[in-house]
Amino acid sequence: MSKVHVTTQINGEEVEFLCEPRQSLLEVLRETLGFTGTKEGCNDGNCGACSVIVDGALINSCLVLAVEAQDKQITTVEGLANPAGLHPLQRKFLEHAGLQCGICTPGFLVAAKALLDQNPDPTEHQVRHWLAGNLCRCTGYDKIVRAVLDAAQTMRTSA
Ligand code: FES
Ligand code: FES
Repeated sequence: MSKVHVTTQINGEEVEFLCEPRQSLLEVLRETLGFTGTKEGCNDGNCGACSVIVDGALINSCLVLAVEAQDKQITTVEGLANPAGLHPLQRKFLEHAGLQCGICTPGFLVAAKALLDQNPDPTEHQVRHWLAGNLCRCTGYDKIVRAVLDAAQTMRTSA
């Protein structure tokens, strides 16, 4: 099958790749480009492990074709930390023990970032509602929600 050339931006860097028209963004991120922080859980839009931000919108990358990334700005979990250190969400997930495994955690982090980008001061209800598309089978959600609320507060006070 002939491949399509795509130019996009990932975590602030211009990226080019070739993909088949049938390939999902998740598949290309992980297997072609090496952004393995984006996880494959269900591969059918139910778990949120593959969450990325595309032009400011939170999406499940398993449900989007890689060719749709043309001229988009994508943020993966690898884009949260910077040379100065971890993102406040990452620090608060550690402090609150809001994580156990590496499958769901990147998706929660990316989803929470998308929320705080839009709403820097969410209520607990808003956090829980926003994260309803991200599934975790082990921590329960309380620690994750507390971590997001604490990160939001930290980011507001340091802004
Ligand atoms: S892998 Fe995409 S939603 Fe589960
Ligand atoms: S910590 Fe990953 S599924 Fe719960």
